[in-house]
Amino acid sequence: MNAITHLPATDDLFDRIADALIESGYCVLPDALPEDLTRNLYHYVQQLDDDDFRRAGIGRDQEHQLDRRVRSDEIRWLSPDKPAETAYLEWMAALRLGINRRLMLGLFDYECHFARYPQGAFYRRHLDAFQGRTNRVLSTVYYLNRDWTEADGGELLIYADEQAREPLERVIPTSGTLVIFLSDRFPHEVLPAGRERLSVTGWYRVNNSIGGLIDPPH
Ligand code: OGA
Ligand code: MN
Repeated sequence: MNAITHLPATDDLFDRIADALIESGYCVLPDALPEDLTRNLYHYVQQLDDDDFRRAGIGRDQEHQLDRRVRSDEIRWLSPDKPAETAYLEWMAALRLGINRRLMLGLFDYECHFARYPQGAFYRRHLDAFQGRTNRVLSTVYYLNRDWTEADGGELLIYADEQAREPLERVIPTSGTLVIFLSDRFPHEVLPAGRERLSVTGWYRVNNSIGGLIDPPH
């Protein structure tokens, strides 16, 4: 049993997340993770080289393609090799158990990557998952940008559905803010960033595989 799941503060937070997911299918939480964890993650991602990132594509496996008109960020998948990455993965694992316990979603794993948007980069309106064709159930985005203001752009716009023209929510990607939403329900987009923009984007998945084989990661 992970110690994080037993911190009262975390229990409260997990309650709030579960309530929001039932109520509206998404939530935006400022100052969500512990400050030292966020600081370590920020310093860790700062010292990575350009070579550690690769251009982000769209679609999985064979369908994977690069399209600069859709998204122009660069990504790096997290793995439990480095303490800063491990701490984040453990926190998200605790949240996975917390959500399963409260909502019985049967989330079986979590995968996530850093995303670096150079100045001017964006991600056009999209869904993270398509109903019936995915094992991605919940999307998470955690921001690492210090002193980010509206003037820096790069807001995440979340829409209620495919038809909506006005966003439900405009999220300023300030360090410490965590966004969680149902992956197949909310179209969303990232407006062009006025300066380098850092986030960790991830997905909780269910295991849809047959024949006892676990779905491969990303
Ligand atoms: C994504 C995404 C949003 C953000 O990577 O799929 O929508 O605010 N990211 O970084
Ligand atoms: Mn997305």
